[in-house]
Amino acid sequence: MPQAFDFKTAVPWGRSYSEYRAFFALDGLAPGTRVLDCGAGPSSFAVEAAERGLSVCAVDPLYSVDAARIARRIDEVRPTMLASIRQAQARFVWDHYGTPERQEGVRLAAMQRFLADFGGRRRRAQYLAAALPLLPFRDRAFDLALSSHFLLLYSKQFDLAFHLEAVRELLRVARSVRLFPLLDLDGQTSQHLEPLRAALATDGFDSAVVRVDYEFQKGGNEMLRVERPGQ
Ligand SMILES: C[S@@+](CC[C@H](N)C(=O)[O-])C[C@H]1O[C@@H](n2cnc3c(N)ncnc32)[C@H](O)[C@@H]1O
Repeated sequence: MPQAFDFKTAVPWGRSYSEYRAFFALDGLAPGTRVLDCGAGPSSFAVEAAERGLSVCAVDPLYSVDAARIARRIDEVRPTMLASIRQAQARFVWDHYGTPERQEGVRLAAMQRFLADFGGRRRRAQYLAAALPLLPFRDRAFDLALSSHFLLLYSKQFDLAFHLEAVRELLRVARSVRLFPLLDLDGQTSQHLEPLRAALATDGFDSAVVRVDYEFQKGGNEMLRVERPGQ
């Protein structure tokens, strides 16, 4: 369990249920499906999914910090986040959000939704402070584990060994694992993608790169799905 969350190295910024649904092609999940959102941050996916009848647990080292502190940090990083998106505007596809300002609005609405649930008296979703590559769950506790904008995106910060250990851990606790995007922060296909798939194939897992109906980073319209054959 992490002792303290370091706001210097990680910026809290979160996405919504409808964005996750597009990243991971989530249409058709039955109510009660047990979903782990790992590296969930201040995303509203967990609370919105819980409202739709899914059984969701969000995990992030960030959750060792209280809602007020997370809210203050979001306010602090807002101007920098908007400025950096504006500066790198040409590296993104704007069909979905329109403008950097509208995209910021979508993000802020998602994070407000997260903060209301996380800081509320009766949480709709479950939140747990923990960090890959070690998760405090029994084997097969979940049907599906998701990593949105953590694994593969931070390929320069986390090496192949970390990625392999992390995905093996997700496959221990869930029957099926999905990662999005497959690009790193520079917009290049993660250097770990193919070595990771090869190592997982040796372990006996099938993986597939699946095209999805979402693209914001140019070329970022694919997710990785990993499971044991016959799932
Ligand atoms: C860019 S955010 C993505 C948040 C959310 N999944 C989304 O897509 O909106 C990446 C998150 O990964 C979390 N993280 C960093 N190291 C982690 C680890 N070892 N295990 C799990 N999460 C981690 C960070 O705290 C941060 O909240």
